[in-house]
Amino acid sequence: MSEIQHQFVKKILTVASHGAYEKGYGVAPSNIALCKYWGKRDSNLNLPLNSSLSISLGTKGTRTQIRRLPSDQFILNGEPVDPTTPFAHRLSTFLDLFREPCRAPGFEVITENTIPTAAGLASSASGYAALVLALNDLAGWDLPRQLLSMLARLGSGSASRSLFNGFACWHRGERDDGRDSFAEAIDTKWSDFRIGILTLTDAEKPVGSRAGMQRTVETSPRYADWPARAAIDFGVLKRAIKHRDFETFGATAEANALEMHATMREAIPPLDYFLPQTRTQIGRVQQLRAEGLPVYLTIDAGPNVKLLFQAANTTEVENAFPALEIIDPFGTSHA
Ligand code: DP6
Repeated sequence: MSEIQHQFVKKILTVASHGAYEKGYGVAPSNIALCKYWGKRDSNLNLPLNSSLSISLGTKGTRTQIRRLPSDQFILNGEPVDPTTPFAHRLSTFLDLFREPCRAPGFEVITENTIPTAAGLASSASGYAALVLALNDLAGWDLPRQLLSMLARLGSGSASRSLFNGFACWHRGERDDGRDSFAEAIDTKWSDFRIGILTLTDAEKPVGSRAGMQRTVETSPRYADWPARAAIDFGVLKRAIKHRDFETFGATAEANALEMHATMREAIPPLDYFLPQTRTQIGRVQQLRAEGLPVYLTIDAGPNVKLLFQAANTTEVENAFPALEIIDPFGTSHA
């Protein structure tokens, strides 16, 4: 981690309390972006080129326990993690920001994903959010979520939004020092909003979202229009959520996701996360809509499709997609 990141963390921790406990615990939901974070204006501080907006997945996410040890040890879903893996390296590097000279230098991190890894949702977002909450608990910082979202952001941008239940937005911010780029909850409960997860494959994607967004920003001519387009979508989605205008909400989220994928396909070399089945399912959703069923979709940097619909249409959507895992984001949640 760079000196800039250390200074950033140091500034946030000056307003923290300083206790110290033997163990710390953190729980955070996964989140799905409806207005995607795609592109960084600063990759050191993970500052985005556009504001983004997401929905958290209630009890589906990550549970983490942490304590200090002489050296780092990570356990993921009950299995020790090989320290030479990129996963362990990224985690250790992030933890470097929080090691204290007068305490044991290592951390034991025990992490469980409360969503089947096969669903492709056990991402870095809930992982880094739960880790930051566990660190906050261990060190007794007692920091507000907004500041914790800025720490989680350093681990993974989308993790900033996983500090919140329900809808959340992550503000792009304008400052170079990153102090105005934080996430916060959107205070609207939309109890009959549903998400359907259509898992088409659990294979690891060949290009991660971090590398994918960098390639797109650097080489895709179509990316030039993305930040302005995303800023408009962000505002439209916020208003649609406020007014529970499902059609505008669904149409904007779907168009935003498809435009993000369009920017990638014009990258050099092109980046296409879709499988043939992904295109088939997009066609089916659009056909169902043409037949009058209000169902929309979003897709992240991977081939799996997430459906957006309302509780009243659950039976029709389930009939059309029998393998669907349905999530009620405003049902039982962690908070
Ligand atoms: C397509 O948050 O994984 O899911 O900040 O480099 O860790 P880093 O990227 P990451 O990117 C997420 C991209 C996305 C869209 C989104 O979640 O907003």
